[in-house]
Amino acid sequence: MRRTSFDVRDRSGVWRFREFLPFADDVRVVSLDEGNTPLYEAPRSADYCRLSQLKLKHQGCNPTGSFKDTGMTAAVTQARKLGARFVACASTGNTAASLAAYAARADLPCAIIVPGGQVSHAKLAQALDYGAKVLEVEGNFDACMNVIRELSDDGSVYLVNSINPFRIEGQKTVAFELAEQLDWRVPDHLVVPGGNLGNSSAFGKGFRELFATGLIDRLPKITVVQAAGAAPFARYYAQHDAFVNEPHPQTLASAIKIGAPVSWPKAWRAVTDTGGSVVTVTEQEIADAKAVIGADGIGCEPASATTVAGIRNLAADGTINEGETVVAVLTGHLLKDTDYVMKYHNQSLVAPDGERIPSRFANSPTRVSASAEMIKALLK
Ligand code: F0G
Repeated sequence: MRRTSFDVRDRSGVWRFREFLPFADDVRVVSLDEGNTPLYEAPRSADYCRLSQLKLKHQGCNPTGSFKDTGMTAAVTQARKLGARFVACASTGNTAASLAAYAARADLPCAIIVPGGQVSHAKLAQALDYGAKVLEVEGNFDACMNVIRELSDDGSVYLVNSINPFRIEGQKTVAFELAEQLDWRVPDHLVVPGGNLGNSSAFGKGFRELFATGLIDRLPKITVVQAAGAAPFARYYAQHDAFVNEPHPQTLASAIKIGAPVSWPKAWRAVTDTGGSVVTVTEQEIADAKAVIGADGIGCEPASATTVAGIRNLAADGTINEGETVVAVLTGHLLKDTDYVMKYHNQSLVAPDGERIPSRFANSPTRVSASAEMIKALLK
């Protein structure tokens, strides 16, 4: 019945699972028709990973172009319910764009705190257009996070980063939607990028809840992939020692340039409960995997491509077997960071350490004069 309904709560890919959400039935939801994102077959990416099959769950197809919307609808609904006067977040860009949009829909004043000069133009442009107060801090994401926590602790703002449990509640519904798309047959491996580690935490919770209801009979192995220069969680996984933040996170995948992930304990549970792992990939591996995902006609932003890069390595070392079912979660849309894309295809991408990244799959534009003959010759 919900499939044919025009009720906003039925159209939303989050609220159609409202029986699993901690809200009363009559709550006034703040929604932009988030969720209901495609699950694509990706044959070129599968080939690249030397797997027979690979599916990509494209969370970049959400209203503001990233997975954040599935959590933001719940967090801003809760903010309005509580009568919050000001909503705010620290962000590498996508949370900011998402919050700005949902706050605008809810008519709530909103501030976003971002690392100055380190957020892609597309993400910043979204936040500005949606009317958020944009505050650029001198420092990285972790510095922004510290400031916003202080503001939240003294009650100045309602915080909607993923330490807000309502964000996780909304985001967990992606696990339900994915299981539904797979006819409740859980994949062997679910692979997600890791930054602040809210997304992996949410998938862990979502699949645990599905398992508890008996809708699925096992859990997917949840693997988190980090960029090698911003990988405190991977280091923790490898060493099983105390969790140590990375003081100087570095990666061109700016969305996950995070050294002090706030949700690591929950993400740790997601990984260990499911028998997954945490791995790293290099800047080169991210860049090439991103181009391959693009060649499948799908595309994503750099942080999302860590998944396919990681899967390729895991297939090569035997952690993933050729015949196993694998789903990678693409967290953000290709158009979120076109600067990176243009540099890659123009062979001018430079890693944070100053090394040029050779573009193995470059597709540079060709300059031509407006001559049909000349173009015909080039197309041969
Ligand atoms: N992929 C993209 C495109 C992201 O924007 C983020 C996080 C992640 C992956 C990592 O997800 O933090 O849940 O582990 N972006 C946050 C932001 C930090 O502010 O937009 P996570």
